[in-house]
Amino acid sequence: MIKAQQISLQEYLAEQVQSVEAVLDEWVPQENVEPSSIHKAMRYSLFAGGKRIRPVLAIAAARAVSDSPDGIEHATATLELIHTYSLIHDDLPALDNDDLRRGRPTCHKIFGEAMAILAGDALLTLAFEVLSRLKQINAERKIRLVEELSRAAGTVGGMIGGQVNDLEGERKRPTALLLESIHRAKTGALLRASVRMGAIYAGATKEQLAALSEYGEHVGLAFQIIDDVLDVEEPSESLGKTAGKDEAQQKITFPAVYGLERSREMAEEERLASHVALRMFDDRAERLRQIADFIVQRKA
Ligand code: IPE
Ligand code: IPE
Ligand code: MG
Ligand code: MG
Ligand code: MG
Repeated sequence: MIKAQQISLQEYLAEQVQSVEAVLDEWVPQENVEPSSIHKAMRYSLFAGGKRIRPVLAIAAARAVSDSPDGIEHATATLELIHTYSLIHDDLPALDNDDLRRGRPTCHKIFGEAMAILAGDALLTLAFEVLSRLKQINAERKIRLVEELSRAAGTVGGMIGGQVNDLEGERKRPTALLLESIHRAKTGALLRASVRMGAIYAGATKEQLAALSEYGEHVGLAFQIIDDVLDVEEPSESLGKTAGKDEAQQKITFPAVYGLERSREMAEEERLASHVALRMFDDRAERLRQIADFIVQRKA
């Protein structure tokens, strides 16, 4: 903890990414395990880079309430399994029809659509196997994690619900109300759940959990506002995914509704609100504050 506070955010992120990737490597069958085609497809998308921001948020939230809870990286890796599954499916021709992800051709471009669908399904399923096999927490706490993750990935206010609204919103008139409901669900829910899962794993009190959930909501919304802004502002090479896609597909985005300048201001408002939500925490929450800043300042 003390050491973690001394290193820069960049070094901290790099350390966390490494520990999450080591755990993912343990859980996802190696490429030579049969049927090897699916394991190749899963690993191709999972180990293609990626910021790993969801596990990082979970670990930082846990640290805000307790000293390094044992085994937390296993629990938080499940967020990355769900997230990567959602990206593989998001890129499919039937959804956003994208060719580039994490700086590589998308999963279906390399392995075909059928295998990409199955790779997504398999990552989703594996996430819940991992939760069921966590060793360091009791059954009651595990069930709470299962509830958090499944609801955040689900249809009512969760990731899939948001994806449905995102797809059905294409070519519809972009309204502020529709926009917020899409963004809170398709991205915000999993980011909020990341923070909550870390807190629950670490045994947060009700008050701590409520404050951290509020933080999670603000960073979740900020994250997708910036994702929309970067889609307009940054080239594909730095994004590692096709730039300018949202306008081409007439998506309901923050820049489409509010313009770029106001969108950036709104992200900044969410960042500040996330800091306010952490007022009951001392230095232990410093990483969470820095991560909120990073989410708004990032270029990819
Ligand atoms: C991109 O997520 C898709 C959204 C939910 C906005 P990230 O920006 O976290 O993608 P990676 O994991 O770093 O590739
Ligand atoms: C995707 O949102 C959110 C998911 C649930 C995967 P986007 O469609 O904006 O994500 P990118 O921009 O393709 O990464
Ligand atoms: Mg999409
Ligand atoms: Mg997309
Ligand atoms: Mg996007």
